[in-house]
Parts: sequence; structure tokens; C-alpha cells
Amino acid sequence: MKTLEVKYSTNKTNIYLENNLLENISSLIPRGKKYIILTDENIYKLYSRALNVPNSTWVVLPAGEKEKNLDNVSKIIEKMLSSEISKTDILINFGGGVISDLGGFVASTYKRGINYYNIPTTLISQVDATLGGKTGVDFKVYKNQIGSIHHPEKIFVDPILLNTLPKNEYLSGIGEVIKYGLCFDEDLFNSLFSNFSIDELIYKCLKIKAEITEKDEFDNGIRLALNFGHTIGHAIEAVSNYTIPHGICVIYGMLYEIEAEDIKDKLIRLMQKFEIENQISYDKDELKAFIIQDKKIRNGVIKLPKLEKIGKVKITEVKINDYLMRL
Ligand SMILES: NC(=O)c1ccc[n+]([C@@H]2O[C@H](COP(=O)([O-])OP(=O)(O)OC[C@H]3O[C@@H](n4cnc5c(N)ncnc54)[C@H](O)[C@@H]3O)[C@@H](O)[C@H]2O)c1
Repeated sequence: MKTLEVKYSTNKTNIYLENNLLENISSLIPRGKKYIILTDENIYKLYSRALNVPNSTWVVLPAGEKEKNLDNVSKIIEKMLSSEISKTDILINFGGGVISDLGGFVASTYKRGINYYNIPTTLISQVDATLGGKTGVDFKVYKNQIGSIHHPEKIFVDPILLNTLPKNEYLSGIGEVIKYGLCFDEDLFNSLFSNFSIDELIYKCLKIKAEITEKDEFDNGIRLALNFGHTIGHAIEAVSNYTIPHGICVIYGMLYEIEAEDIKDKLIRLMQKFEIENQISYDKDELKAFIIQDKKIRNGVIKLPKLEKIGKVKITEVKINDYLMRL
């Protein structure tokens, strides 16, 4: 089994990665606690029998980004109260990024904060969303407007779970893997052109994210680099009414933000390899309306990652009006 220990200011996160880990998770978690397991209907149908956590209660929500909302925060908290979940009990998020963002947010506020574990089930969550403690919900049509930083205590990554992932969701995860390669690791980026081992890729991405979030837990410096492609990506995602998966929107965002033509061409070749469309149409005014709500804008200036070359990114400050003009 591969493991990683990631140290933060207030606590640490232990990561366990192994094929077929799901069936052995109960041997890696403490006894004598109550567990609340948050999941969505798809995961529940596919995997609830394989996850045996003693003393647990399930909360099962419909699947999808639209569920990442305050109403569900209330629903989960109601269930936790009626199940007498105490301050020392544990919330387990079993699902993709929607579930870990939502459940992590609940864990950060329930009784002023309880511990939680993640069992990520999508590629996007296994390489990215599960680690780093960013939790939150969307508000009306705006993404991630309410949230906190609260780190999971344990993360259990089982790459075998990806076998049932719909192709589009897998490609969405590949979008985030491409981001890690482009910004931090040229070898990782190049390996995507050949036959790669998904377990290795996941581990490499988690290691990169671990290093970055340890250095910059609260998003004031290098962690902003993880937002590469996300400013416009989030806007495309919202304008598409969440019909285009997150990571694919991030690829379009990166394509827009890369300045060097040779790197753009490489990215387009990679998109062709994975059969991802490189043309989409969107309404520019609608995109702009979303972008100006971006949390990273301070006094009319946005801090944006700029790709210097493959594997190297730096944070720059751009006037939001200049950025919007280029759209
Ligand atoms: N907190 C962070 O750092 C961070 C980082 C990246 C993305 N995110 C957030 O993550 C969310 C996107 O997460 P996602 O892409 O994982 O989407 P998701 O959680 O909505 O899952 C996508 C779909 O795949 C299904 N699914 C999940 N695992 C499956 C499996 N193993 N087999 C079959 N079906 C499966 C789900 O039921 C759902 O229908 C967005 O809200 C985004 O903002 C957060």
C-alpha cells in the first residue's frame, strides 16, 4: 500500500492508496466511534455492500453538482443530530468532489468542527478534490461561494473504483491530471501521451498537491497555481448549467490561459488523444458575469497562475478588466 502523511497547521492528513482498499477500510479506522457515511445514489447502489463500517448510518443524496447546496447541509446535520453523532465521531464522505466538498463543509461546522475521512470515487476527487481541505457549497448559480478550510483526517484511495466511472467523468479527472503535469511536472504531462498507470498518476498528483498545500495551506501563494484554467473553467461550467464536467471546463480554461502556441498545440494533441472536443461555443457576456464574482478578485485585480513553460508556473496579478477584455 502507498501512503502519504501531509502536515498542516492544526492537524494532519494520512493518505492510503491501494487497489481494492474499499473492502479493507474497516481495519484502518478506530473502533468505539459512530460514523455517518455521506454518499450519492450512484455510489450507494454500486458500492454500499463493499464498505463495511461498524456503527454507521448512511445519508444518501441524489448525484450531481446541484446537490452541493445549503439545503443539503441542513438535511445532513438533521440526520447527524437524530443519530446522536457527537463531537468525537466521524463523518465519512464516500463519493466524488461534490460529496467531499459538501460533507467536508458539514464536518467543519457541525458542533464547531468534527473529524472526517474521504473515500474519493472519481478521478477528479482521487487526484485533487479529496486533499487540501477546501470544502464548500454553491450558492444559487455561483460555485463554492460558501465554504471553509478543514482537512480530512484520513483519505482512502481505491483506484479500482474508477472502473465504473462514466467516460466523461474519467476525462474530467484527466483534465485535472493535465493541470498537474502542465504546472508542476513535465514528465507527468508527457506520460499522458503514452500508456500510463493510473495508480502512479494518482499518487504523483497527490504528492504534488500535498507539497503545495503544506507550503500554502490558506491559498495566499503557490496554492493559487492549482487554479490554473479554473477562472474561466468555472464560468464555462456554470454557463453550461453544469452539463460539461468540471475538469473538461478546466481544460478549456487552460487552453485559453496558455500563451505559448507550442504548449497550446501540445494540449490540443492531448485532447485529441483522449477524444475531448477542443471547440465549444459560449455567450461571452454570460461568462463575464460569472467571472466578476470570482473569489480571487481583490480591488479589481485577480491573481492568476501564468504558465512559463511546461512544469513551471508563477502567480501574476492581472486587472480583471484587462482579463475580461481578452475574452
Ligand atoms: N475541494 C477541492 O479542492 C476541489 C477540487 C476539484 C474539484 N472540486 C469540486 O468537485 C466537484 C466535482 O467532483 P466530481 O467531478 O468528482 O463530481 P461528482 O462528485 O458529481 O461525481 C460525478 C458523477 O460520477 C458518479 N460517480 C462517482 N464515482 C463513481 C464511480 N466510482 N462509479 C460510477 N459513478 C461514479 C457520481 O454519482 C456523479 O454522478 C465540483 O463541485 C468541484 O467544485 C473540489
